[in-house]
Amino acid sequence: MTATKGLEGIVATTSSISSIVDGVLTYRGIDIDDLAENATFEEVIYLLWFGKLPTGAELEKLQSDLNAASTIPAEVINQMKLFPKDVNSMAALRTAVSALALYDAEANDMSQEANVRKAIKLQAQIPAIVAAFARIREGKEPLASPGYSSVAANFLFQLTGKEPDKIAIEALDKALVLHADHELNASTFAARVTVATLTDIYSGITSAIGTLKGPLHGGANEAVMAMLEEIGTIENVVPYINGKLERKDKIMGFGHRVYKGGDPRAKHLQKMSLELGKLTGNLKWYEMSIKTEELVTGLKGLKPNVDFYSASVYTTLEIPRDLFTPIFAISRTSGWTAHILEQYENNRLIRPRAEYTGPVNQKYVPISER
Ligand code: ACO
Repeated sequence: MTATKGLEGIVATTSSISSIVDGVLTYRGIDIDDLAENATFEEVIYLLWFGKLPTGAELEKLQSDLNAASTIPAEVINQMKLFPKDVNSMAALRTAVSALALYDAEANDMSQEANVRKAIKLQAQIPAIVAAFARIREGKEPLASPGYSSVAANFLFQLTGKEPDKIAIEALDKALVLHADHELNASTFAARVTVATLTDIYSGITSAIGTLKGPLHGGANEAVMAMLEEIGTIENVVPYINGKLERKDKIMGFGHRVYKGGDPRAKHLQKMSLELGKLTGNLKWYEMSIKTEELVTGLKGLKPNVDFYSASVYTTLEIPRDLFTPIFAISRTSGWTAHILEQYENNRLIRPRAEYTGPVNQKYVPISER
């Protein structure tokens, strides 16, 4: 038995949800470029869950189901009020989502219908939790969903208490489309491994959130912004990046396990970063990002991934830095739940082997002789 480090190149399951072939990402066979230009996030949720684009009536039903399911149980809000105010927002989300299961009477109902209902609740309540925690830590009361027809618009309202403008809604909606699913990424794999024991969907999503939090996965978007803020000025990009590369530090937002020729999602976020920069009259973060890309790609051949330009996009939308990864979670909930439903439909316990590298032929030594 020989282990493959990081399971690189290992095909661990079959799936009909999303694919990456020759650097092209598709959801249910539709190219991400097509979806990024034309689809709303709610259409993508439907596509991922049910395998086809919704009709107008199906889309309306999904939007109204999401709105009807968006109220966070009062007990969970009360628990969130007890969280330390300075706690990591992904840790807060992970704990609150785990708590949701305690107040859902059908948490352990394993029927397909109940699991779809729980997927709707999770997709509706996760954005509400992210916004609620952001308000609670500032001493403000969480806001109920205004019941708009889009997850992006509801979230922006629940976060700020103000009616969001059209540009912000469209930008966030596109970011949600781009992050919705990504084949067997680490957090989706974690979700599938968890539910393959036939535990409940809340356990699967809790595992996934904990996995997404790490800086080698979803946490990279916050690390990118921290880096840009540390660089501070466009003049400082060259010495800063050169210094990092000389020390063999990783540059956050670059590289990818699967895409070696470039992440197809990055160009959409780059374009959005430029457009939003022009609209707000603040191109600083975009220009620093472009300079960083020129340098890292030129010197190391590494291309930006989905996290790199999402950092400047969210910053230009005035979203606090530590909500970037929770926003990724809001989007990826659609993919995680689609994969969980698919895993339940054709389940087998996921239990690989390990190549043992420890000592052999050892004997127990009584404690008095050690
Ligand atoms: N900066 C500098 N060097 C890098 C980077 C980077 N961002 N990414 C890879 N490398 C180098 C490694 O140092 C290594 O060099 P070596 O062979 O000389 O030791 C080589 O490229 C291979 O890197 P690995 O880390 O082994 O590649 P792996 O496929 O395991 O990792 C990963 C992929 C984790 C995304 C990596 O590129 C990375 O750490 N990037 C920065 C974090 C990041 O942006 N994560 C978000 C990924 S997208 C997502 O999850 C949504």
